[in-house]
Amino acid sequence: MNYIGTPTSRVDGRAKVTGEAKYAGEFNVPGLAYGSVVESTIPKGRIARIDASEPLRIEGVLDVLTCENRPRLAGTDKAWKDDVAPEEGSPFRPLYDDRIMFSGQPIALVLAEEWEIARYAASLVRIEYETQAFVTDLYKRRDQAFVVEKPEKPRGDAEKAYAAADVRHEAEYFIPTEHHNPMELFASTVTWDGGGKLTVYDKTQGVQNVQRYLCSVFNKKADDVRVISPFVGGAFGAGLRPQYQVVLAVMGALALRRSVRLVLTRQQMYGLGYRPATIERLALGAKADGTLDAITHEAIAVTSQFEEFSRNDTGWAALLYKSANAKFVHRLARLDVPTSSDMRAPGAATGVYALESAMDELAVALKLDPVELRLRCYSDRDQNEDVPYTSKALRECYRQGAEAFGWNKRKPETRSMRDGSELVGWGMATGIWEALQMPVAARIVLSANGHAEVSCAASDIGTGTYTIMAQVAADRLGLPIENISIKLGDSTLPQAPVEGGSWMAASASHAVATTAEEVRKELLALAKAIKDSPLANARLEDVTFADGKVVSKRDASRTVSIADAMRSGAVDRIEKEKTNSFPDDSSHARNTHSAVFAEVKVDEQLGVIRITRIVNAVAAGRILNTKTAHSQIMGGVVWGIGMALHEETVFDHKFGRIMNANIAEYHVPVNADVQDIKVIFVDEPDDIINPLGIKGLGEIGIVGVAAAIANAVYHATGVRVRDLPITLDKLHRAA
Ligand code: MOS
Repeated sequence: MNYIGTPTSRVDGRAKVTGEAKYAGEFNVPGLAYGSVVESTIPKGRIARIDASEPLRIEGVLDVLTCENRPRLAGTDKAWKDDVAPEEGSPFRPLYDDRIMFSGQPIALVLAEEWEIARYAASLVRIEYETQAFVTDLYKRRDQAFVVEKPEKPRGDAEKAYAAADVRHEAEYFIPTEHHNPMELFASTVTWDGGGKLTVYDKTQGVQNVQRYLCSVFNKKADDVRVISPFVGGAFGAGLRPQYQVVLAVMGALALRRSVRLVLTRQQMYGLGYRPATIERLALGAKADGTLDAITHEAIAVTSQFEEFSRNDTGWAALLYKSANAKFVHRLARLDVPTSSDMRAPGAATGVYALESAMDELAVALKLDPVELRLRCYSDRDQNEDVPYTSKALRECYRQGAEAFGWNKRKPETRSMRDGSELVGWGMATGIWEALQMPVAARIVLSANGHAEVSCAASDIGTGTYTIMAQVAADRLGLPIENISIKLGDSTLPQAPVEGGSWMAASASHAVATTAEEVRKELLALAKAIKDSPLANARLEDVTFADGKVVSKRDASRTVSIADAMRSGAVDRIEKEKTNSFPDDSSHARNTHSAVFAEVKVDEQLGVIRITRIVNAVAAGRILNTKTAHSQIMGGVVWGIGMALHEETVFDHKFGRIMNANIAEYHVPVNADVQDIKVIFVDEPDDIINPLGIKGLGEIGIVGVAAAIANAVYHATGVRVRDLPITLDKLHRAA
């Protein structure tokens, strides 16, 4: 194999840096009209009156759509449920009626000849509201939070064991609401193709999900709507569900009977989903020897009044560590806000932050090295399901990460390490995520000139899907990677689920490998059939495919070129389409793991925190592409830095509005915040999970990072901040 496992550069890299790669808001068609959204300024109530007379008098304004004059929309919740909608609740329906359920809710769409006109006119729509009482503060609703069914089983009696433990730690941790802030704004360009047909260029993580959703919401036939999304400028979970702008853009096109573009503003992006604010309570009890005896993990997360979105915060504590007694409770609290949503490693980024902070506090109480505590509770089996893992090289992550970091030079006491006027802190944490795989189909068309086109509806959300699919196709077909072209992000291509959950790399690469196997069979049959074939008696397992040839494994001089095989068979193309399949058994747990080590330097007087070094040692099966995989983990670590020190959506609970709905005041890490990041991939052979031994790693990179940093800040300063982000005022507050 020439490409799998190598640092292959992105095959779409040139298109991206030259601007040739087009994003949803960039597709141009003649006669395009432009939309601009008017949002509610109150969080709850009704629209008493909408007056659009002034905007309608402006030259260039084409229409103003509201709940009073919008095109017909489906009226059942079922019709509005996309593939990844929460099971419980009523999905949001933009412009459906006069109800206001959150601040920033779209309530009118202004359509105009130009974007500037639309935007100006939107500022002139007059709205009168009837307001109702509302709550946007999680702490005001925690007592009314309700339990969500979750699969973790209780073990033993956690409360009794906790009470009887030699050493105990109990604390509450808090993660604020965070918004995704991808570089690309949510955008849709809907082209009016005539005859009721629409082509929708949409920013999404799943074109077929959006296609089915639009057909259902607008009661269209499957053939009438095609959704295309070849490139995505970051989504991180925000693009898993169809966002409201795609519904509004289609409404606009139907109302005007012409093509419409709608791009949200950065401020409007804060009216979409978000990582829910979560309160986490951990109670850990241990024997004096550092073995765990009791784990209680309870989480309360935010959802909207109309849907129940929840991800599993406590499940990680359930499977990771040995403890005879354990109890897990997951609750949701309803607030007058949009429905929360997936954000990179949903549930784990938050739940593992709390768990691994608590483990650090327990290690302090036990006077035990934090790595040593994790090793004493280490488990080779999923503790929740009591099954072995397909592979788990977490022990190696701890070892190699600690070694690369220089962990053995750590002095255990707080405030014991210094660099001039700065206190130095070293902290660590464990990371864990799922290694899921989903049904994905791929089509391969091989031409006699040795060029193959591989196509699939999957999206590449920036993770490198184009590249890894090209690598697998090139290796399986024995062609140079330049001869492979990949087509993605079109709802008419072979089926794929949304790209998310870190499942696409393993799923799409096996779809390609599965389909390539069919192509190989046909090529061999053709190669055997040529006159005096040197491969006359070869079976599929006797040959390899390399350098554009079918080659005998026993005698490398016996070859038939792909071109010759196809020419002599009078075949100018071989076309195959197959869906991958994975053994569907629950006899093994499938997870990725990591060990994160962080160094912080804290100005002793000011409390300014700098993160000087992070080592993230990751076990994620065989690494398909060491370059793009490295970038994935780096990106996750940078986001973990943001989670630890910067990110927080700030509400004014008096008005139920977000106060920092822009990327000037919603802080994300910039270059100056990011110093030395070292990524290590530990060797993790896995013969069970899938034939190529691959696990996804889009999300594992963030998990554990915030905890490692929080633990390092404690080690530096002796101050334990349990509510993120760790800002300097909190260091002074707690001191
Ligand atoms: Mo991911 S949060 O499943 O895009």
